[in-house]
Order: sequence, then C-alpha cells, then structure tokens
Amino acid sequence: MIQESPLIIPVFDLVICLSQAVDLVSPLVADHHKRTAQIAYGLGMQMKLPEAELHDLIIAAALHDVGGLTCKDRLLTLDFEYQDPYGHSIMGYLLLKTFSPFRVPADIVRFHHVPWMNGEGAVFDGLPVPRTSHILQLADRVAVLLDVNRDVLEQVDGVLEKIRSQAGERFVPEQVQALEALAEKEAFWLDAVYLQHLNVLSRRLRWEEMHITEDEFFGLTNLFRRIIDFRSQFTASHSAGVAAAAELLANRCGFSITDCRMIHLAGLMHDLGKLAVPAEILEKPDKLTREEFAVMRRHTYYTFHLLEPLKVLDVIRIWASFHHERMDGHGYPFHLVENELPLGSRIVSVADIFTALTEDRPYRKGMSGEKAYRVLSDAASQHRLDREVVDVLSEHLDEVDEARRIAQASALDEYHKFIATAEELTVKV
Ligand SMILES: [Fe+2]
Ligand SMILES: [Fe+2]
Ligand SMILES: [Fe+2]
Repeated sequence: MIQESPLIIPVFDLVICLSQAVDLVSPLVADHHKRTAQIAYGLGMQMKLPEAELHDLIIAAALHDVGGLTCKDRLLTLDFEYQDPYGHSIMGYLLLKTFSPFRVPADIVRFHHVPWMNGEGAVFDGLPVPRTSHILQLADRVAVLLDVNRDVLEQVDGVLEKIRSQAGERFVPEQVQALEALAEKEAFWLDAVYLQHLNVLSRRLRWEEMHITEDEFFGLTNLFRRIIDFRSQFTASHSAGVAAAAELLANRCGFSITDCRMIHLAGLMHDLGKLAVPAEILEKPDKLTREEFAVMRRHTYYTFHLLEPLKVLDVIRIWASFHHERMDGHGYPFHLVENELPLGSRIVSVADIFTALTEDRPYRKGMSGEKAYRVLSDAASQHRLDREVVDVLSEHLDEVDEARRIAQASALDEYHKFIATAEELTVKV
C-alpha cells in the first residue's frame, strides 16, 4: 500500500528518472545527458566546487537539453544546439524552475550556451552567468565530441585540441586548464563512456540524504506533465484531463484521499514513455500504420521502466503504466489479465479512453460525454474494460466530463502562456 505522508523521495532518483526520460527521445542523442553529467561531475571535482554547487551542476547537466523536447522536430539530432542555442535553453529554464529544488539548476541551464567571449560572458542580458553554466557548456561539448563507437582514449588528443582552440572565445581558460589536468587520467574518459557510474554518484555525493516533501513532489509531477504534453500542441493537455477524470472516478469508487492524490499523479505520468514516440506519430490525425502502431505500443513499457528508480512510487507506476492492458489479456505490452490489474490501473484505463474521446484535437472536435460513454460501455461488454468502473462513470458522467474539461482548459492555457513567455525571452536575447 502507499505509505501515508510525508512522502520521502530521494532527489537523485528523480534526476536519474527524468534524465533517462529525456534521453529516450532520440536514439541519436542517447545517453547525452548521462554522459554530460558524468563529465561535469569530473570537472566539478577537479575544480573543487563546494558540494551544493556540485549537486546543482550535476542536476543541470543531467537535464540541460530538456527544453529541446518542446521543439518537437529538433531533438532528433543535436542540431538544435547550433540552430537555436537560446530557445531550448530558455525552455529548459522555464520548465525546471517551477520545481523549487531545481531553481538553481534552472539558472545554470538558462545560460549553458553563453560563450565566454574573453570575460564578457560572465554577464548575459544584464544577468550574472553562474560559472557552472560555463562548466556545463564545456562538459556538453566534450560529450558531443566523443564518438562512443571508437576507442575513447585514442580520441583524447583530438578532443583537447578542439577545446583548446576555443579557450577564451567560447570556454573559460581556467576551466579548460582543469580539463587538461583531468585529461591525464584515463579513468575520466572511461567514466564518460562507461556510464554505469552515474548511479553510484548518488552514494559518492551523499545524495541519498536529500529528500523532497510531498508538496514539492506535486510541483514535480507538473514538471513531468509539461515535459510529456508540451511536445506538441496536439497533446498539450491530455495528461491533465486523464488525471482529473481518474481522480474523480477513484473518489467515487471509494478511494482514500491519499490514494486519490496518487491516482492523480498516475494520470499525469501515464504517458511518460511517449517521449520515445516521434512527434509525427503522436500528431498523426489518421489511423496509424502497422509499423507506426508498433512504435506507439512501446510507450507504456517505457513508462513502467522509467519510473522504476522511484521505489516509493511503485503503486503510481503500476496504476500509470498498465493503462493499455485490458481485462481479457488483449492489451499491451504485458498482456496482463483481470486478476493482475488493480482497480487503480483499470480506472486510469477508463479515464484515458474517456479523455481521448472527449477532448478536442486540432483536427477534430471531441465526442460528447454520452457518446464516449457508449464506446466505453461496449468495451466493457467485450470484457476489455472493467464494467464496474464504467458504471461509476455513467452515474457521474457530467461531473467527470466537467472536471476533465476544466483541467484541460487550464492546462492548454498554461501551454500557450509557456510558449509565449519562451518566445518573449528568446526574442529579448
Ligand atoms: Fe544545449
Ligand atoms: Fe547538450
Ligand atoms: Fe497511453
């Protein structure tokens, strides 16, 4: 069962989970965040950064290109780094700063592409640039220059050469010197390709002692939701609708207040694995082809595994990631059957389909609640959905539909404001 509050969640586990989610978006950038974090850690240790500053640097490095996700077609390669260095930095900053423990990392991310310009880069747009932003820029560059398919130690001279040529102009000279000193250790380079070490950083940095409160956690799940939904205007409010509908259904099914909050979170995170699905497939208005559907079917598998590091959230993980399983065993990806599907998972399934049918999409208007109910009722008759949950929905149809509509309207509003603020800040630059 879910433990009663306070919910204790190790910050590092969260960072790993989010970082892995971000790395899923394109196989071409796979492990970019982990690698950059590992290199930043080496640089930070070499420069003897105070512990708190080092923690913030690693969080920033592990998540630094998260803003690239909202630029839907750009993260396919690392090209957006060059074409639009400030756009994705600002987006990342705006996403991260809403969660209080990430406020400093958000600032680091905001300036991670400001060149040093022989000292002028200490200030940008009238604001002081943290030295950790410059360290992050250096770590990021080293990560991109490394070709993981070749022997790493053979590349050291070439990488150093390229970095050195931009010392002063792009990178801070003292930071380049720190890299040169560090470069003598084979272990530094081997760590950068053998990424398993990232998980042990947690112990080395004594992060297991850093926890967040339940309220902060709610701020964080909103961050998750934005990362998932803001990739596309087509999905900008889907998770918010599922969360609201699931919470109300759970309440009417007799769940405790704590469990209702938990199912709300499960609704916000249920499509986390969609980060692994290309935007073209997410946005396709027509029926998906066989191949496209095969790609789509991966998403709940990823939701299941991405949430794994967050041990205390196991129940949320189960409720969230079984939403495409069906009572008769014909769902995906685990093909679970009735007695393996807890009530929470069945509720999220109903809330997900109900929301998908009733929400407006740019290419079509949503169905009425009545009509959507009839579709769900047919699915229950075929033993795909839980009849009792669908009955509860029918008893409270207007109320659930209204809760969903309000939650989605406010999420969509927030999405437009987010895009406007990002554009405004980028234009200023
Ligand atoms: Fe970047
Ligand atoms: Fe990057
Ligand atoms: Fe889904």
